[in-house]
Amino acid sequence: MTTLITGAGLIGCQTAALLAARGEPVLLLDLQPAPALIGSVLPLNQVTVLSGDVCDRAAMLALLQQHGITAVVHTAAALSMAIRQTPTLAADVNLGGTVNLLEAARACGVRRFVLASSTTLYYPSFRRPQTGPVAEDFAFHAVSERPGSLYAASKLAAEYFTQHYADQFGLSVAILRYSAVLGLWAGPNNSVPGRLLATLLGQGAVNGRVAVADPLLLWSGGDDFIDARDVAAANVAALDATALPSRVYTIGSGRLATFADFVAAARQVRPALVFDEMALPDTGFAGFPYRRTQPFDVACAQTELGFAARHDLLSSFNAASAWARP
Ligand SMILES: NC(=O)c1ccc[n+]([C@@H]2O[C@H](COP(=O)([O-])OP(=O)(O)OC[C@H]3O[C@@H](n4cnc5c(N)ncnc54)[C@H](O)[C@@H]3O)[C@@H](O)[C@H]2O)c1
Repeated sequence: MTTLITGAGLIGCQTAALLAARGEPVLLLDLQPAPALIGSVLPLNQVTVLSGDVCDRAAMLALLQQHGITAVVHTAAALSMAIRQTPTLAADVNLGGTVNLLEAARACGVRRFVLASSTTLYYPSFRRPQTGPVAEDFAFHAVSERPGSLYAASKLAAEYFTQHYADQFGLSVAILRYSAVLGLWAGPNNSVPGRLLATLLGQGAVNGRVAVADPLLLWSGGDDFIDARDVAAANVAALDATALPSRVYTIGSGRLATFADFVAAARQVRPALVFDEMALPDTGFAGFPYRRTQPFDVACAQTELGFAARHDLLSSFNAASAWARP
């Protein structure tokens, strides 16, 4: 009964820690695993750490067979910043890697496959006024509201492949669309929300003054953020759920937070810092072109997975403060 977690990054390590704390065998796989970083999240003697590339189909099959893998949490991916620099990663790692894991999971008859996806898929549809909370089966125009980046396109393509492995081969899958994940750790903080947290907590501050220069980190309106610890709990809930009638779940807080909310939380955690007034663009978070007015509908994850976010913004800032020293 060993669970394979691909990606020993922020979310993979937090998920491994929860499973290991329950005494379950966990195998953590990464392209370049860093034991010192993993060991800062969970005791290294509670997890098997392996080096491997999800793009290597034969190696993934051999790994699942040799280690008797019974469940997979697939978080390994190239994030949006990396894909901007190397576009082919979207196809090779995010789609190709997912297909390789799905194939191996099918061949080995794993009991559950959890895919890390992203709420970035929803954003192009925000160009139209939203009339209520945005649910998983949202309406979008397939051409004019296509995923807004290669990263988002790779996530949607991976979702569709995962759905079809469930439809055609009976693989039991849970597709979790995480909203913007708040968390810092000793490893590389690759995500836009991670960079925002670090900046507001004073990394890069000059003479105790915090200024946010990167336009990607500024936004008008609100957005949904979720703590990395909550995301890990959602992954475990998806492994545990007896039935997954909806298959696709938004994993978010169900609330909108503004840039002012972030500055207020940062002020509480770092009272000695001075926050420069920052002119906000008329756009959404992470450079998305539209302001959001409606939260995500997170009822499906609550009802079917028994999952609800537990950490608020202040809790996320407090947890992150240990990792971002001014
Ligand atoms: N962080 C966020 O805000 C966020 C939001 C929504 C969805 N997600 C998704 O959650 C998942 C985990 O994100 P994270 O924040 O932990 O990212 P992360 O960058 O911290 O971790 C991803 C890990 O995948 C590994 N990896 C990359 N290519 C690989 C390969 N070819 N083979 C094996 N390992 C490889 C990296 O080395 C890294 O350790 C990703 O699928 C991401 O798309 C993240």
